[in-house]
Amino acid sequence: MPATTSDKTTNSSPLRILFATSECAPLVKTGGLGDVSAALPAAIKALGIDIRILLPAYRQVLAALPGCREIARIEATADFPNARLLQSQMASGVPLVLLDCPDMYDRDGGPYQTEAGKDWDDNALRFGLLSRVAALLGSADSPLDWRPQVIHGNDWQTGLTPAYLRYAAKARAATLLTVHNLAFQGIFEPGLVAALGLPAASFSPDGVEYYGKLSFLKGGLQLADAISTVSPGYAREIQGEGLGFGLHGLLSARKDSLHGILNGIDTALWNPATDPLIACRYSADTLAAKTGNKRALRERLGLALTPELPLFAVVSRLTEQKGLDWLLQIAPQLLALPAQLALLGGGDPELERGFLALAQRHPHSASATIGFDETLAHLIEAGADAFLMPSRFEPCGMNQMYSQRYGTPPIVRATGGLADTVVDCTPGTLADESASGFVFHEPSADALLAAVRRAADAWADNATWHALQRNGMARDFGWNTSARSYAGIYARLAKNR
Ligand code: ADP
Ligand code: GLC
Repeated sequence: MPATTSDKTTNSSPLRILFATSECAPLVKTGGLGDVSAALPAAIKALGIDIRILLPAYRQVLAALPGCREIARIEATADFPNARLLQSQMASGVPLVLLDCPDMYDRDGGPYQTEAGKDWDDNALRFGLLSRVAALLGSADSPLDWRPQVIHGNDWQTGLTPAYLRYAAKARAATLLTVHNLAFQGIFEPGLVAALGLPAASFSPDGVEYYGKLSFLKGGLQLADAISTVSPGYAREIQGEGLGFGLHGLLSARKDSLHGILNGIDTALWNPATDPLIACRYSADTLAAKTGNKRALRERLGLALTPELPLFAVVSRLTEQKGLDWLLQIAPQLLALPAQLALLGGGDPELERGFLALAQRHPHSASATIGFDETLAHLIEAGADAFLMPSRFEPCGMNQMYSQRYGTPPIVRATGGLADTVVDCTPGTLADESASGFVFHEPSADALLAAVRRAADAWADNATWHALQRNGMARDFGWNTSARSYAGIYARLAKNR
C-alpha cells in the first residue's frame, strides 16, 4: 500500500475503504468470515473503489507472505505493545495491510484459540489492538497518508473500532460493522477498559458496557454509524428475542441503520467446471462426470463403492449452532435408508467423538474426518449427492450456496441465510423450476430425518434429482448485487461524514 500524499478527496477520486478483519482466505480461515473477507473486497475493488484489507500478521500469514515491507510503526500505548504495519497484496490485487505485533499474533495455533481449542487468554488485547489500529488509520493521527473514509469492520474482533473513533476528538472515518455471527460477542471483564486505552466514560450503557461487562460487539453495534448482517432473514431474526442473543433490543432500536445483505460466493474459486481440487470437472451439461468425484471421494474415505447409495455429506465447524447433534441422533436411520454419510469438521470434542464412533461402527457407510481440509471440502462438494446443514441458526451460510453450484442439493433448516437461499422441493417448485434443495422448519432430529427421507426418495428418481441439480447450478450466487449494496452504504456514509 503506497503511502502517497496524492490521495486527496475530490469528487472523481474513488471511495477509500479500510476492511478490517480477523481472517481472510486463503491466508487464515476458520469459517465463512475468511471466505467473505477475501471475496467481498475483491468485488468492491472491481467496482472501482479503493479498498484495502487490515489483517493481523498471524504466524501462518507471515509464512505465506515472506518479505513484506514495513510501512509504519505504531507506538505502544495503554497495555498494547509496539506494532508495525506491513504492506502486501491479495491474489485478487486488493492491497493488504498486515498488523504485525509478534507478542500477540506470531504463535502456533488458530486465530482465536490454542491448538487445544482454548480461547487465547489475551484475546481482548489481541483484537483490541486490531480495533484500535483500524480506528487509528481512520483518524487524523494515522501514520499513513492514505486515509479511509469508511472503516468496514467485521464481528466482535473489530467491534471496538467505532468506540475508539467515537471517543477521539479529531476528524475521523465513518464506520460500518458487519455481524457475521451474533453468538460471538467478545465479552470481557470491565477492568480491561483502561488496559485497552478506552476512556472511563466509554463504560456506559451508551458505550461498551453490557450488563456490567465490557462487550466488543455491543460497543460496535451501539456506536457504528451503520451496521449490517449477512442475510436479510438474519437481519430480521436478530431483532427478536429468540436469535438476538441479548442484543435484540439494541438491534431493533437501530433497525433503520441495520442492513441485511446476503453474502455472495467466489464463483471462480467454487466452480466445478474449473476446480483444480476435485477429481473430475463438470458443469450442468456434463453432470455425468460428477460421478467420478463421488467415486474418488468414496475411495479416499474408504466408503464402499457398491451398491450405489446416496451419499450425504457435511463440511462444518462442529458447534451447537450447526445442529449436527440431530444428525448424530438420526445417523442410524439415515444409514439404514440405505445411504452413506461423510463428515468433515472439527470443534466440539463430544461431537467429534460421536461422529468418529459412528464411523468406527459403520466403516463402509460412514466416515468422519476431524480437522480442517480445504481440498477435501471441495471434493465433498463435488462428490456428495446431498449436503446437510441442519443449523439451529445460520446468519448466512456459504456451503449451501457452494452445494447448489456443485449440483449437490442442500438439506437445510429454514433459518437465516439458509431460508433465503434454498428453495424447498415441492411439486410446485419443481414445476416452476425453482426447487434447489430440501428445507425443514422445526428444530428437531425428527424434522431433519423427514427431510433426509424426502431427499433420498427424490434421489431415487433421476428426473427429479437432475431437475434439482440443474436448478441449483443455474442460480447466481455471485457477489455483484451485494457488492453494490455495500458500495451504496459506503457512499452514503462517506457523504454524511
Ligand atoms: P461458518 O462461518 O459459520 O463456519 P459458513 O457456511 O459460512 O459457516 O462457512 C464455512 C466455511 O468454512 C466454508 O467455506 C466451509 O467449506 C469451510 N469449512 C468449515 N469447516 C471446514 C473444515 N473442517 N475443512 C475445510 N473447510 C471447512
Ligand atoms: C458466520 C456465520 C455464517 C456466515 C459466515 C460469513 O461464521 O456463522 O452463517 O456465512 O459468518 O458471513
